[in-house]
Amino acid sequence: MKKKILVTGGLGFIGSHTVVCLHEAGFEPIIIDNLSNSQMSAMGGIKSLIGFEPTFVNANVNDTEVLSQLIIDHKPEAIIHFAAFKAVGESVEKPLMYYENNVVGLISVLEVMKAQGISNLVFSSSCTVYGEPDQVPVLETTPTKPAQSPYGATKQMGEIILKDNASWCKTQCLRYFNPIGAHPTAALGELPLGIPNNLIPYLTQTVAGLRNELTVFGNDYDTPDGTCIRDYIHVMDLAEAHVKAVERLVQNKQEENFELFNIGTGNGFSVLEVIQSFEKENNIQVPHKIGPRRAGDVVKVWADTTKVNNVLGWTAKRGLDEMMRDSWNWQLKLQKN
Ligand code: WQD
Repeated sequence: MKKKILVTGGLGFIGSHTVVCLHEAGFEPIIIDNLSNSQMSAMGGIKSLIGFEPTFVNANVNDTEVLSQLIIDHKPEAIIHFAAFKAVGESVEKPLMYYENNVVGLISVLEVMKAQGISNLVFSSSCTVYGEPDQVPVLETTPTKPAQSPYGATKQMGEIILKDNASWCKTQCLRYFNPIGAHPTAALGELPLGIPNNLIPYLTQTVAGLRNELTVFGNDYDTPDGTCIRDYIHVMDLAEAHVKAVERLVQNKQEENFELFNIGTGNGFSVLEVIQSFEKENNIQVPHKIGPRRAGDVVKVWADTTKVNNVLGWTAKRGLDEMMRDSWNWQLKLQKN
């Protein structure tokens, strides 16, 4: 009998890739997703990769009756909680929507877990919690800074809530850096909803002719080429990290009930370096110009991955060029549909 893992937001960008990796690792993923930031086409992608559609319930995690029944029916060994909004700019415009969905949503999941005797959780956190770090690379012990957006605040609150429930809830708290790329078969990828806020979808849509030009938000920062530096991580590497975290939980290998990991590559690349990598890897130009800085942007942040390498036994395997190749292949696939 396969161990079942409940994946909230399992049709989303990271969730869908993780569902595939969970299956390949011998687990049975169960999906709950309200399709507020995902599409049923992701289910088609999952099916094309694993041969069937996993159990799926179209619901909001705040619907605790539905969530309870799903847990009663399937008795999952662990829950991976992806379901949350993640656009920094949107969170500034709609803070209540972000607190309702991201914080109340987590509380709903925890209340149902407690009532149903489920004690294993993997939580999606973000490098956003570090704000503008005083030093890079950031360690898990690097102090967090006051959130610069409601989105960042919801991630910091989530971590606090989970620490305060560590007496009964065993958590693998994963601080993602910048998830990009797509499944190498282009069966799954980041689905564009509206004008992309993030660099890679905007870049690939520009190259595809859907946007006029990519604006590089500032080249007068204190970095080698003046543009901001980030730790871009392939979504497949990120998905595989989640499998490692689930395995650590179900095999009861945690040394403490709340464990925190930076999930990055340990390498920082500037916006211009990303553009150069894309152009070289795909042999195509990225129409771009230098524009003004974007408010709230962190200048440079990338991960120290010593802890996740040694404790979780996970290391990112895919480099920037591969991320650029898979991102472009996904965009080409989207154009065909
Ligand atoms: C990356 C770099 C921009 C668009 C956010 C969240 C983070 C995570 C990833 C969820 C920056 C520059 C961007 C453009 C540009 N989300 N850029 N032109 O802001 O690092 O992180 O998304 O986990 O939590 O905060 O990602 O892709 O928006 O920006 O020059 O059109 O690309 O200035 O330097 P960010 P991003």
